[in-house]
Amino acid sequence: MGRIILGTGSSLPSKVVTNEDLEKIVDTTDEWIRTRTGIQQRHISTTGEYTHVLAARAAANALEMAGVAAEEISLIIVGTISSHMLMPSCACFVQKEIGAQNAFAFDLNAACSGFLYALDLADKYIHSDKEKKILVIGAETLSGRLNWEDRNTCILFGDGAGAAVVGHSDSDRGFVGVNHFSDGNLWNLLYMHTAESTNPDIKVKDWPGAHIFMEGREVFKHAVKAMDDAVRGLMQKTGIGLESVKLVIPHQANIRILNNLVERLELPAEKVFINAQKYGNTSAASIPIALDEANRDGRIEENDLILFCSFGGGFTWGASLLKW
Ligand code: ACO
Repeated sequence: MGRIILGTGSSLPSKVVTNEDLEKIVDTTDEWIRTRTGIQQRHISTTGEYTHVLAARAAANALEMAGVAAEEISLIIVGTISSHMLMPSCACFVQKEIGAQNAFAFDLNAACSGFLYALDLADKYIHSDKEKKILVIGAETLSGRLNWEDRNTCILFGDGAGAAVVGHSDSDRGFVGVNHFSDGNLWNLLYMHTAESTNPDIKVKDWPGAHIFMEGREVFKHAVKAMDDAVRGLMQKTGIGLESVKLVIPHQANIRILNNLVERLELPAEKVFINAQKYGNTSAASIPIALDEANRDGRIEENDLILFCSFGGGFTWGASLLKW
């Protein structure tokens, strides 16, 4: 305990793509997308709205709420799988954009779990140096990593970014516990290649393109069970009952996955924050966007217990509990 979130921020591209818009691109219907996923629309980047641009806007909003200057930030971690360059990192671009010249910066690749893993790292960095103030960001432009002819995947995702400023507090507020996992054995149920190798010896045979590939039904089953197990394990570990949690902020994969999770955990629906209908699945950005929305809507008060859970490619998954 003793490391808290001082401010949150988010940023979405201005262009909105509805299900009806997608009907014109692939063989799908608004009705199919709504009933299978609950998604009604998503925001998609246009000219110049790279991942780091959205990330920097979200970071600026979080810094403003926290009352922290960019120069006070000592570390920037960006959870992302869709930076527009592999090198430099998205985090280095964010540093440049916001003028955080005293920070070191790196990206963290854990797909949809990127923000939660990064938040955990920030907690541990500050535990070892309480002077540190850390920007934790989840940011994605997966619109640039989709096959827009594949109706199985292109209807699911959206672009956006969310951020949190984490710092020390002398109070008993802060991170109560985490329960994180990965399983690389299941990599081929959800994956995305990088650029094609120029080394013939390590070239992927029949390289399919740098798009998201997914076995939807398998992902669905694993996602629900994994998040359920991670949450139960965390509650057991911390000795805290789910009834004490004020708000659950899950990864916004899609509403059917979340409804299944809510049912399994026997959670009252009003305790679970859901905004996937507006933004689709924004991968690492989904939890911090939801957190910022809940925070700005007044859904969170000091000392409230907030539970996060995520699941994504890798597979990566986990849960964390925070006393706000
Ligand atoms: N529009 C219309 N029809 C479609 C579409 C579409 N966009 N996509 C698939 N279909 C068709 C299929 O071709 C199939 O047709 P067929 O029966 O003639 O072969 C039919 O709909 C049923 O397909 P299923 O894949 O069985 O549909 P399902 O009910 O499983 O729903 C979905 C698919 C929504 C992808 C579901 O499996 C799911 O939610 N999976 C989880 C995926 C996910 O959230 N991934 C995000 C990354 S991981 C994460 O964030 C947790």
